[in-house]
Amino acid sequence: MLVTGRELLQDAHKNNYAVGAFNVNNMEIVQAIIEAAEEMNSPVILQASQGGLKYAGVEYIAALGKLAAEKAKVPVVLHLDHGTDFDQVMLCIRNGFSSVMIDGSRFDLEGNIEITKKVIEVAHAVGVSVEAELGKIGGTEDHITVDAKDATFTDPDEAKRFVDETNVDYLAIAVGTAHGVYKGEPKLDFDRIKTIKGMLNMPLVLHGSSGVPDEAIKKAVANGINKINIDTDLRIAFADGIKQFLKENPDNIDPRKILTPAKDGMKEAVKEKMVLFGSVGRA
Ligand code: G3H
Ligand code: ZN
Repeated sequence: MLVTGRELLQDAHKNNYAVGAFNVNNMEIVQAIIEAAEEMNSPVILQASQGGLKYAGVEYIAALGKLAAEKAKVPVVLHLDHGTDFDQVMLCIRNGFSSVMIDGSRFDLEGNIEITKKVIEVAHAVGVSVEAELGKIGGTEDHITVDAKDATFTDPDEAKRFVDETNVDYLAIAVGTAHGVYKGEPKLDFDRIKTIKGMLNMPLVLHGSSGVPDEAIKKAVANGINKINIDTDLRIAFADGIKQFLKENPDNIDPRKILTPAKDGMKEAVKEKMVLFGSVGRA
């Protein structure tokens, strides 16, 4: 069933676990994530980035996501990931997304508050939940790149003001993770997560979570993270499945045969994340 992000993440916030938000671009990926969620009896968030929407078309992603949610035995959120543009966010709301992210992190605090408030006024009027980002997360997510030198951690006092003024449903904070593949081991600022959680008492979001060691993810959840975004690790699992299959069957030309091991590999990766995040059995 399709549910709002607010409903799903408030439960995670109250019960100290996190829900995986996995990036989707096509039917096989949607099916892999939903099958994993059903087998683990876990709530789940299907999210599409602007790059994903450009690739598949917003109508296709919306149709796939809504159908998957309708048929699923677990609660499913259909979410826009890193929406940077007001019109793009509105298009997703119009197409039936139950949650959207407005990423105004490239603006100063005032500008970020302004665009977030504008989105929330419309989204909340039609029952759609909103995620915003404060601080700057490094690395590359599709077309958005933030150099390591420009990445800045979220300031707890600014976060308090941001939430009071915008009434955002969940907040993405910058605490040491980065989008994409890590060169060294990421160092997370767990105290900062805890401080922000204590001041805001609301669901918090961790981006750039692929490649973060399991122990660090567990500690981040224990300190207050309730939504964990995963893209790169699923891409790796999907690509590995294809590479392996074609290595063993170089003459095969059937897309169904080629994509099945990719889907299966991704499904296993999603299940492992659900165990790590503590969302198993929470549906
Ligand atoms: O918004 C999407 C995520 O933050 C994904 O980051 O590719 O490092 O897993 P990742
Ligand atoms: Zn992200």
